Amino acid sequence: MNYKFVIAMKIVWCITGAGHLLRESFEVMKILKEEIEDLKVTTLVSRAGEEVVKMYGLFGELYNISNGNYYEELILEREHPYSSPITGRLSLGKYDYLISSPTSGNTVAKVVNGIADSLVTNAIAQAGKGFVKSLIVPVDYKEGIVKTKLPYSVDKSKCKLCLKCIDACPNGAIIKRDGFVEISIHKCLGCGNCKKICPYNAIVEGKEIKMRVRKIDAENTRRLKELEDVIVLKHPYEILEFFNTKK
Ligand SMILES: Cc1cc2nc3c(=O)[nH]c(=O)nc-3n(C[C@H](O)[C@H](O)[C@H](O)COP(=O)(O)O)c2cc1C
Repeated sequence: MNYKFVIAMKIVWCITGAGHLLRESFEVMKILKEEIEDLKVTTLVSRAGEEVVKMYGLFGELYNISNGNYYEELILEREHPYSSPITGRLSLGKYDYLISSPTSGNTVAKVVNGIADSLVTNAIAQAGKGFVKSLIVPVDYKEGIVKTKLPYSVDKSKCKLCLKCIDACPNGAIIKRDGFVEISIHKCLGCGNCKKICPYNAIVEGKEIKMRVRKIDAENTRRLKELEDVIVLKHPYEILEFFNTKK
């Protein structure tokens, strides 16, 4: 694919606390950075987003996407709890697009009800006010079952309690409790040292699980499509298609 026709584009990329479609969203961010000449990405990460991105071992990648230069800032809600000045750029129409991917059910529910009390919901509201188009990828697209992958966990049936993983973890994220080893998803940064050192293959990464998309979440996604200047996409890969068709 060739995106070189788009030059000097500025986007805000919002990341919320959803594990579903998270890896795919990072993949798309990286492709766009490689393919679009002079693309500037300001990344906005909700509090839950920061936790989940760390659990999936992707936090370091954010610095490759938003290196801290002008219009390439990495904005964490933890550090900018209320109205970040960056959202003002959206209301002034300074960006070409806002992209939110993955977008949690929580954020979609707030947005469709006009709530703008967090970094990402405020950014989406300000984009609407500044006539900036928003491409939103909700994780709960339609009612039914979706498959998603979990961060690191311990398969208790394989673990022999050798405790090598506890020493190997640089973040003190692994502890022994009640006769079992467990990984604190709040401390785990997804480095994979535990998986490498475990002689019993008891550390599992990316275990696939099924989740229900609730009626209320699917209904909120439907309402999202009615907002001005909002384009709802089913999957992060559709973001690539979107820019390809803008030739
Ligand atoms: C590991 C992990 C994965 C999660 N994945 C999802 C998800 O796929 N979809 C979702 O709607 N919420 C998910 N959540 C719950 C959200 O993080 C939670 O609703 C949070 O309040 C969202 O806040 P935000 O919308 O401000 O980012 C997940 C939470 C954790 C800890």
